[in-house]
Amino acid sequence: MKEKIERLLETEKGIELGGGEQRIERQHKAGKLTARERINLLFDEGSFVELDKFVEHRSTNFDMANVKAAADGVVTGYGTVDGRLVFTYAQDFTVLGGSLGEMHANKICKVQDMALKTGAPIIGFNDSGGARIQEGVDALSGYGKIFYRNTISSGVIPQISVIMGPSAGGAVYSPAITDFIFMVDKTSMMFITGPQVIKSVTGEDVTQEELGGANTHNRKSGVAHFMYKTEEETIEKIKELLSFLPSNNLEDAPIYTMEDEINRVEEKLDEIVPVNPNKPYDMKEIIRTLADNGDFFEVQEYYAQNIITGYIRLNGKTIGVVANQPRILAGVLDINASDKAGRFIRTCDAFNIPLLNLVDVPGFLPGVEQEYGGIIRHGAKMLYAYSEATVPKVTLIIRKAYGGAYLAMCSKDLGADQVFAWPNAEIAVMGPDGAANIIFKRDIENSENPIETRQEKIDEYRNTVANPYIAAKRGFVDDVLVPSNTRPRLISAFDMLESKRENRPAKKHGNMPV
Ligand code: HXC
Repeated sequence: MKEKIERLLETEKGIELGGGEQRIERQHKAGKLTARERINLLFDEGSFVELDKFVEHRSTNFDMANVKAAADGVVTGYGTVDGRLVFTYAQDFTVLGGSLGEMHANKICKVQDMALKTGAPIIGFNDSGGARIQEGVDALSGYGKIFYRNTISSGVIPQISVIMGPSAGGAVYSPAITDFIFMVDKTSMMFITGPQVIKSVTGEDVTQEELGGANTHNRKSGVAHFMYKTEEETIEKIKELLSFLPSNNLEDAPIYTMEDEINRVEEKLDEIVPVNPNKPYDMKEIIRTLADNGDFFEVQEYYAQNIITGYIRLNGKTIGVVANQPRILAGVLDINASDKAGRFIRTCDAFNIPLLNLVDVPGFLPGVEQEYGGIIRHGAKMLYAYSEATVPKVTLIIRKAYGGAYLAMCSKDLGADQVFAWPNAEIAVMGPDGAANIIFKRDIENSENPIETRQEKIDEYRNTVANPYIAAKRGFVDDVLVPSNTRPRLISAFDMLESKRENRPAKKHGNMPV
């Protein structure tokens, strides 16, 4: 027995070395950690349990029968993160470039199935040359099985993809189906076809980094949600994200002991919005002022910055925030902002996270480009996502709430459970300038001093219509708040809504515009 135990331990040690010391050194030189090093950083010390360590590929083509691939190029298992069960798979680039063959895929599918059955999040570290070329259709089938499980698990358990190296070809679609994608600056990339193929097909010259680096996907394409400088920092942020999420759709997010004051009154909120309605201010400052301990965990920080999405805690409980950012494009809603917010709202609703909507929106962005790009169907995503969401929804109108965008930021009619407004809120069909030009066109044209008359009419319109009291008189706004008292009121509203139950008609699924 002793001998057998020794042999077991030796075999395990060999497998744990992955592709061997040289390849590990190459991985480190490339600024990357190994699969096992990543796992060690993620899990609570000593909690990780590896599964399927002894799995081997069954491929024989191209001399593969003689190729040993430790753990078949992917480390899988479970452990705890801050004491909560989490599953993982981490592709090992030192073993056949982390390429995905039949057995490699089977290992991933096994942890996907376990995560779904036990209702625990799954985190996938992607670092792979894609489908294992030698295994042909078996490799393709492996991807298919993973995509299928990603889809079935969607909305049941949080699925997080971490790109820490290449993710090329159809392989990118597994991360794309999951809830969140983390990328590491300069060492991760995602693309459907690489620069060489692009050059031969379209003639375009582009580097890998420009095509599919972390910056590209965080700033331009909106494919990724997070980008950090190092793998270590990225893994810390994954843990932070997990702390805001429940383990599955039947649970609530963990509640943390709050070290802040519930009744914190913030005088600075009374002054934060400029008197001139066209002057910008930083909405993030308001978010941080309202949040427990000033902590705001932003999602898609670099994409469509005219809308802000992310998580805060109020009285220790996770709240998803959707807020217009007046500093960028005056906070308008455009195609990208609608996509970003629509997806975030649905993620929150799927995982029982209440929504706080902070509104200062002049409308949808006009323009031929926006119309041709389909702002109608993209903008509709926000209306759809808010209407569909049954989590507690609280809307605070901070300044402008005009036209369709007033509705799209979750007005009472889309099911907001509580709508608050600050006293300077302007709720109207359109901005005073545009409105005055239309309804007072003749007065302005016939005036001896059209510029002065126009300004008078703009002011008249603003004073008559653009205030929160007309909406409050009709019950569209539940209360007009003194800004400094907002935090206690929000906490009270979310506490009141904690037992909210709302059902929708039974259906297979809705048909959200995409
Ligand atoms: C088998 C692979 C492989 C693959 C890499 N390797 N990719 N083996 N199948 N897809 C092996 C290499 O042969 C090499 O083995 C080791 O991994 C490291 O690769 P290098 O090329 O030396 O590394 P590097 O220079 O860092 O380049 C990494 C790379 C490159 C950019 C990822 O390897 C590459 O372009 N690979 C092919 C990518 C690709 O086209 N994949 C198919 C995509 S299509 P040795 O033994 O020398 O160390 C796809 C379809 C999925 O994935 C469809 C799903 C629906």
